[in-house]
Amino acid sequence: MLGKAPLAVAVLASVTRAAQPEAPAPIAAPMRDLDWGELNFLHTTDTHGWHGGHLQESQYSADWGDYVSFADHMHRMADEKGVDLLLVDTGDRVEGNGLYDGSDPKGQFTYDIMGQQSIDAICTGNHELYLEDTVEREHDITVPMFKKSYLASNLDYIEPQSGNSIPQAQRYRTFTTKNRGYKVVALGFLFNFDRNANNSVVQPVEETVKEEWFIKAIQEKPDVFLVIGHIGLRMKEFEIIFDAIRSQNWDTPIAIFGGHAHVRDARKFDNKAYAIASGRYFETIGWMSIDGIKTGTSDVSPLKGSPAFKRRYIDNNLLGLYHHTGLNETTFPTDHGRNVTKMITKARKELKLDHRFGCAPQDYWMTRAEYPGTDSVFTLLEEQILPDIVKNKDRPKTPRIAIQNTGAIRFDIFKGPFTKDTTYLISPFTSGFSYIPDVTYTVAKRAIQMLNRGGPALAASDLKALTIPEMRHPSPFLSFSDRSLSQGLALQGQQANTFTKNFQLSKPNLVAGYTTKDDLGDDGDDAEHSPIQFFQVPNVISADIEFPKDGDPDKVDVVFNDYLQPYIIPALQFSGGDYDSDNVKRYVEGSFTDLLAAWIKENWTGKC
Ligand SMILES: *[C@@H]1O[C@H](CO)[C@@H](O)[C@H](O)[C@H]1NC(C)=O
Ligand SMILES: *[C@@H]1O[C@H](CO)[C@@H](O)[C@H](O)[C@H]1NC(C)=O
Ligand SMILES: *[C@@H]1O[C@H](CO)[C@@H](O)[C@H](O)[C@H]1NC(C)=O
Ligand SMILES: *[C@@H]1O[C@H](CO)[C@@H](O)[C@H](O)[C@H]1NC(C)=O
Repeated sequence: MLGKAPLAVAVLASVTRAAQPEAPAPIAAPMRDLDWGELNFLHTTDTHGWHGGHLQESQYSADWGDYVSFADHMHRMADEKGVDLLLVDTGDRVEGNGLYDGSDPKGQFTYDIMGQQSIDAICTGNHELYLEDTVEREHDITVPMFKKSYLASNLDYIEPQSGNSIPQAQRYRTFTTKNRGYKVVALGFLFNFDRNANNSVVQPVEETVKEEWFIKAIQEKPDVFLVIGHIGLRMKEFEIIFDAIRSQNWDTPIAIFGGHAHVRDARKFDNKAYAIASGRYFETIGWMSIDGIKTGTSDVSPLKGSPAFKRRYIDNNLLGLYHHTGLNETTFPTDHGRNVTKMITKARKELKLDHRFGCAPQDYWMTRAEYPGTDSVFTLLEEQILPDIVKNKDRPKTPRIAIQNTGAIRFDIFKGPFTKDTTYLISPFTSGFSYIPDVTYTVAKRAIQMLNRGGPALAASDLKALTIPEMRHPSPFLSFSDRSLSQGLALQGQQANTFTKNFQLSKPNLVAGYTTKDDLGDDGDDAEHSPIQFFQVPNVISADIEFPKDGDPDKVDVVFNDYLQPYIIPALQFSGGDYDSDNVKRYVEGSFTDLLAAWIKENWTGKC
């Protein structure tokens, strides 16, 4: 067992900080230190454009410029210790924040901002692949920017002129670390994603591990394999890659970095192979260290000769970054870091991200509040927003059911200003609503049940693509009840209340945040938090609109967000409705994102 890490308290002194000017002042928390090893890593994943930091949550309010400063100091500290530090990013850098989504074309500012960090291994996420123009920008901008470190082990790009399929970037990379001279073989994967745009090709990892280049790569004799992937740690793809490497290298340490599931997690594959995942939305900077790479460290690992893997999930909090580098607000920001912070401020201003559409009257949560319930963002959608925005001028009185997948919503709504930026945090997508007219009501209802529970030809596991990432690939330490959603929720709510109360008696003033449990224990988070309860959400929600006052309608229009189309058609078919894509028509002009912004302007007119 690993011992409990000692706690220290980070102290806030004056106010000349970096971060964005609108960012709230960070709050101190009891801290766990970083354990340095011979080889150390900083990891970001699923940043989704949040390079400006969290402007409504003080514990995640550092920006990408602060991360540039942090990495500079950590590199200096590594040099002083005579050890190595590598930076990793595992994709989904785009979609999810006004800084990326607020420009036309998208990402006008973020590519340059992100590119200011020097990263040693970087790969692609599914969000870089949904739209052809996103794929193209990744190829034309990000790949050349990280020419030496971009890895595309199972991803090809289709060149627009020739139609040729070429590797999106190098398949793997071999390099030697600066201070210790470790030989590293680095690979970079994406899970077996199949909704990618036509100018990209994702090869299933089962096939990639049979490729000649892969066999050659794993037959090299490195000191350590570095496997990065936009893959949840508990997904089968990492097991396939791990097994393939172990089939040739029973003994070489493997450091694995994953993402996609939006959780903090660590997974042990064997005594010499560990993986970490570092959350989402630039809330977390992951830390992994390995000691005893060539010799093993028998004092820590149960097997003599095994290296020691440690991990820490660093809150993206300036006070924590000061703490880990032993610096303060005057000594911490580097010139380069300040410049990047300025780039972000300038971009936010140019994009008018602080432009206010309205004022949220209360907090609305995705998973921190029970669904259905008055504090649930999904109930807000069902009861207030969808009935107002799902309107077709030619069918104003036709009864309809509006269906939206919960994964279409990306973030909580905080009480207070609802800005252009907020709109993209909640809904970065460009898709709108389509419909199938005059569906028998009972068929429509059965189809919705099937989308939530699974059915013939719609496996419950495939339907998880519809819900939020945290529900799709839950860590085994995030416990879900087998009971029905509502029973389970009631029970979890009671436990949460008791637990939180007890916790707060002994630990006053803790900020609510991550209390991670993983294969390495429960001391992974760098800052001690009070726990947040996680409530389950379904795959899809739905609103009945213009229903007769007395009883159910015979027929309804089934309206759905575009992402649902490949699921809704089979669900209707297996519920007794014979429809195909020819029956699908546009219901309302504009994207959900634009309709949401317009609704906020009309309805949330109160003062903040
Ligand atoms: C890909 O190409 C097919 C056939 O040309 C087309 O129907 C489809 O809409 C395209 N998909 C995307 C995502 O561009
Ligand atoms: C920051 O640290 C420097 C060097 O230790 C010290 O001179 C300075 O007074 C500190 N500043 C603050 C605001 O604590
Ligand atoms: C920061 O920006 C200034 C002004 O644009 C420039 O002169 C300087 O070289 C930059 N410094 C770094 C380290 O990027
Ligand atoms: C939103 O505003 C519109 C226009 O004023 C109004 O018709 C509608 O009832 C409002 N919706 C809600 C849920 O208050």
